[in-house]
Amino acid sequence: MKILNDHSLQDLNTFKINVKAKFFAEIFSVEKSQELLADKNLEKEKKFVLGGGSNILFTKNFNGLVIKNSIPGIKVIEDNIDSVLIEAGAGVNWDDLVKFCVDKNYGGIENLSFIPGTVGAAPIQNIGAYGQELTETFQSLEAVSISSLKFKTFVKDECKFAYRYSIFKEELKNQFIITSIKLKLKKNPLVKSDYGDIRTSLEKSKIIEPTIADVRKTIIQIRKDKLPDQLVIGNAGSFFKNPIVDNKRFEIIKVENNDVVAFKVDENSVKIAAGWLIEKCGWKGKRVGNVGTYLKHSLIIVNHDDATGAEVLEFAMRIKEEVESKFGIILEEEVNII
Ligand code: EPU
Repeated sequence: MKILNDHSLQDLNTFKINVKAKFFAEIFSVEKSQELLADKNLEKEKKFVLGGGSNILFTKNFNGLVIKNSIPGIKVIEDNIDSVLIEAGAGVNWDDLVKFCVDKNYGGIENLSFIPGTVGAAPIQNIGAYGQELTETFQSLEAVSISSLKFKTFVKDECKFAYRYSIFKEELKNQFIITSIKLKLKKNPLVKSDYGDIRTSLEKSKIIEPTIADVRKTIIQIRKDKLPDQLVIGNAGSFFKNPIVDNKRFEIIKVENNDVVAFKVDENSVKIAAGWLIEKCGWKGKRVGNVGTYLKHSLIIVNHDDATGAEVLEFAMRIKEEVESKFGIILEEEVNII
């Protein structure tokens, strides 16, 4: 297997941060992942698994081995009367998997259309959008332990999924290489078009009984209109999570801001749109040096011109400070900071 030294990661992270990895290797099969981990010369090196690099902020060179996970393959492994079980390699581009499923009218992930990144990264942060989350269709994943080289199957409960969270984000962070995932999708899918933007767009196109293909098409258009193209302007999607606050804090905010954008989570708490909080602090479209927030969406931090990871981080910290001092809410990063 080819191991590269001092390899630039600039084209492998969507923030386009110019950092290097001391060692770099790309894996295309499960066997090769084990072979790489068993390499005695690399045994002592710190290891980091990279998917599509679309939810990462590198703040410095990586002093160890970066493993680019490119394990391919999409297979229907069970075909039942009303559902199918799909297995996809961790290196598959996430949206290619969505397209594969929508083309066959297998429903359950169509609202997750056009999310950047790979299949293997999807469960790590339990990707979600437009009223759908990965956890709703997720069955299990296969992974190889970086320390013991042993394989393990993680079923849904073991992944401890929550809003933009799984066990792989904290407890088991950087301990496994996810090699494949299994999803159970419906053959007669129930279309989920009740999320604001989707319904309005479908109505505009005069689509009354949308199919999952209509929903996919609509979402791709919404995302293209609202979010910056990662090929043109470096960014990693939402930089922070939408904070969940108790009703008391929410009521305090609402007294002074009746336009607050929030969604009920349960009887005691609501999720506030972080984009709204940041905009209210005057940071929508604001630029400091090489870094800014996107003109159309303040939750997205963009790299205007060859910014360093440290500059992006500093900019993000300033946003955090302002939101905390104005609203008493501490924003939590959604992006993985390395
Ligand atoms: N808003 C503002 N100002 C802004 C941006 C947003 O007021 O500058 C308000 C708007 O009223 C909008 C609301 O915030 O209606 C919510 O915004 P949006 O629908 O864009 O969703 P979001 O909560 O910002 C989440 C996910 C996105 C996902 C969208 C669509 C998180 C952290 N982000 O964003 O996921 O695409 O919903 O469902 O939950 C990602 O994780 O990288 C990501 C892009």
